[in-house]
Amino acid sequence: MSAQARGVSSAARVSARVARPSSSARRFSSSRSSPATRASSNTTLPIDLRGKKAFIAGIADDQGYGWAIAKSLAQAGCEIILGTWVPALNIFETSLRRGKFDESRKLSDGSLMEFAAIYPMDAVYDTPEDVPADVAENKRYVAYPGFTVSECADKVKADFGTVDIVVHSLANGPEVAKPLLETSRGGYLAAVSASSYSMVSMAQRFTPIMNPGGSIISLTYLAAERVVPGYGGGMSSAKAALEADTRVLAWEAGQKYGVRVNTISAGPLGSRAAKAIGFIGTMIDYSEQNAPAPKGLTASEVGDVACFLSSPLASACTGLTMYVDNGLNCMAVAPSVGLKALQPEA
Ligand SMILES: NC(=O)c1ccc[n+]([C@@H]2O[C@H](COP(=O)([O-])OP(=O)(O)OC[C@H]3O[C@@H](n4cnc5c(N)ncnc54)[C@H](O)[C@@H]3O)[C@@H](O)[C@H]2O)c1
Repeated sequence: MSAQARGVSSAARVSARVARPSSSARRFSSSRSSPATRASSNTTLPIDLRGKKAFIAGIADDQGYGWAIAKSLAQAGCEIILGTWVPALNIFETSLRRGKFDESRKLSDGSLMEFAAIYPMDAVYDTPEDVPADVAENKRYVAYPGFTVSECADKVKADFGTVDIVVHSLANGPEVAKPLLETSRGGYLAAVSASSYSMVSMAQRFTPIMNPGGSIISLTYLAAERVVPGYGGGMSSAKAALEADTRVLAWEAGQKYGVRVNTISAGPLGSRAAKAIGFIGTMIDYSEQNAPAPKGLTASEVGDVACFLSSPLASACTGLTMYVDNGLNCMAVAPSVGLKALQPEA
């Protein structure tokens, strides 16, 4: 493993945790078997990602969607490799080392999710030539050379050969708190650069090292297609670009590499990035009051869908914007603001 790859552990594999049909005889047993027999047959439809490798960009704590996706993939037996934003890397590694995340690393059999390697990454830079002098000389960056997208992909290739799954779970919009009417050109372009082109850049650099049948997943938000007041600074535009690019990349990467590309439109979650926007609590309450599924949304529900989409079970799914938001996307009116008469009777 390269010196720059801050490997937290030596590629500890997650052992088998997925139920498998116990014998072919049982799999093909009579369709006339009694419900009791079927219940005891222990047949399942497994997501088995043992032997697969996932590169996940956008984890710097255990609160966000990236972490939940890593956990679901690890639960299915996948090896997890991370690309973590340089300014957040030191604190993330320190917290990990000190056991701060141990509770949330726990898998269903009690073992802890392991990371085969953690690479420094800044997804707004594609090659070393793109890095401005003030960033290259910044002491946080000097400590972690080789953080551009292409260098990161090169290191993954050198250390792991190929990967099967690539996850883009990152976004950044310096003017997200500003209405679009007040957003500067620089702020808008920075949002698109960090939140959408970063995905294109990753697809360019990682598809050549992805195995056929591989999967790329990103995270988008309903604000790409409906107005979410307060989600400003060009972030809504960035998510719209991400969704359009998902379709084009699905076509191109499907034809050239046999790789599928999907994006998950996730409901609101109180992650670190979302808290920085400022009104995430309101969005969570709104969703709980107005979404068809009357419940909270957990990060693990998004993680599990990402795991499914990355698995052979979803081999025909590509170019999708997959909503994982308790159904909020399909509502045209908000029952919580006085339309109680329209609600079905209990
Ligand atoms: N939280 C929500 O309500 C919500 C809803 C829908 C979609 N999403 C999307 O989910 C994804 C993950 O966000 P999250 O809300 O889980 O928050 P998060 O804070 O867990 O993840 C965002 C990550 O982006 C990283 N990052 C920022 N700039 C970067 C850069 N230049 N290079 C590399 N990494 C960078 C941060 O370090 C952080 O780890 C984002 O695309 C976000 O837009 C979030």
